[in-house]
Amino acid sequence: MNRRTALLGAGGTVAIVASGAAGFALWSGASKDSWKEAIKTIRDPIEPGLTGQDAIHELVRYATLAANSHNTQAWRFELAPATITLLPDLTRATPTVDPDDHHLFASLGAAAENMVQGAPLLGLSAVPRFDADGDGRIVLALSPGAVMATPMAEAIPKRQCTRSLYDGQPIPAANLEAMAAAARNDGVDLLLLTERSAIDAVGALIIQGNTIQMGDRAYIDELKQWLRFSYAEAVSSADGLFSHTSGNPVLPGPIGRLLFDVVATAASENTKYLAQIASSSGLAIFVSTQNDRAHWIAAGRAYQRFALQTTVLGIKHAFLNQAVEVPKVRQRLAEHLGLGQRRPDLIVRFGYAEDMPSSMRRPLADVIV
Ligand SMILES: Cc1cc2nc3c(=O)[nH]c(=O)nc-3n(C[C@H](O)[C@H](O)[C@H](O)COP(=O)(O)O)c2cc1C
Repeated sequence: MNRRTALLGAGGTVAIVASGAAGFALWSGASKDSWKEAIKTIRDPIEPGLTGQDAIHELVRYATLAANSHNTQAWRFELAPATITLLPDLTRATPTVDPDDHHLFASLGAAAENMVQGAPLLGLSAVPRFDADGDGRIVLALSPGAVMATPMAEAIPKRQCTRSLYDGQPIPAANLEAMAAAARNDGVDLLLLTERSAIDAVGALIIQGNTIQMGDRAYIDELKQWLRFSYAEAVSSADGLFSHTSGNPVLPGPIGRLLFDVVATAASENTKYLAQIASSSGLAIFVSTQNDRAHWIAAGRAYQRFALQTTVLGIKHAFLNQAVEVPKVRQRLAEHLGLGQRRPDLIVRFGYAEDMPSSMRRPLADVIV
């Protein structure tokens, strides 16, 4: 190859890459618009005055706005005149990170809580019941109630997990008390850590858990199934963890997946999480008194109320569950916190920050059976 062909070759490559990038920009521009539109529709505030089936569908939509592990949305809804039954969708389980379906049932609890909180917007009362000997379903009994727009109900479409750096400012004591009061639930205790040394000690265990997970090929493979890198992937799947929501670049899916393997190492992720922990005003740890489905659901309900209350107060939050997901680290955390036989369920950091882009949800037609 002479110098001229080498230059042409290089120029040709640049031209192809450049025109490919322009094509991606145009294509992602179109899908960015449909992503924006979808996010807006998913998070429309409920219109007051709806009745009958319209009201029930809106309540189900609000249920789906709950936090849920890996955004798998492992739920289905069965509608009857006076009940909504929330069923686990085990085809969407994540057995590597969540082998006993703890997170799956906590997510169902969070969805049930959104219906409890949202029902008064529609002049309804929703009372959940879980049969410990049943198949995992939660049945919500609906009855007429007072029309009420509580701040927590109005926060349902605004709540998000905000995976950015926070500003580290302390939270006023009255707000911490309001967050703790909102989380109060039978069978679940809440530990709020705001002392830097206490936060850092749990932070060290989060890093231990993360190091083990990032070294586990099965964990990474399962996680990658739920990662979405482009607007088009986010919109077409309507589930999973879209890079944009965590402040990561939006890329064509195949490139995102390749880059993820190179960029997301235990060291880089640990550095990121240490910075996030250092920027947070505190950690909330949800601890159930018994280790069974009923209590995992209760922990999910307690988290969801906590999250709605923090949203009302203009406080952001995000999960850092690595230390409760790896069994031997969870054991160390339980010992460190003096929990005896009680299970630490969920770890959430909180503090002040701006909103991040919101996550997708599947349409009602996909979740109503
Ligand atoms: C039980 C449970 C466990 C979760 N674990 C984590 C976690 O370890 N790390 C994380 O970043 N998000 C975690 N999440 C948050 C979900 O990824 C998040 O709720 C989902 O992507 C939807 O986004 P949204 O909450 O902003 O609507 C968890 C959520 C639940 C309910």
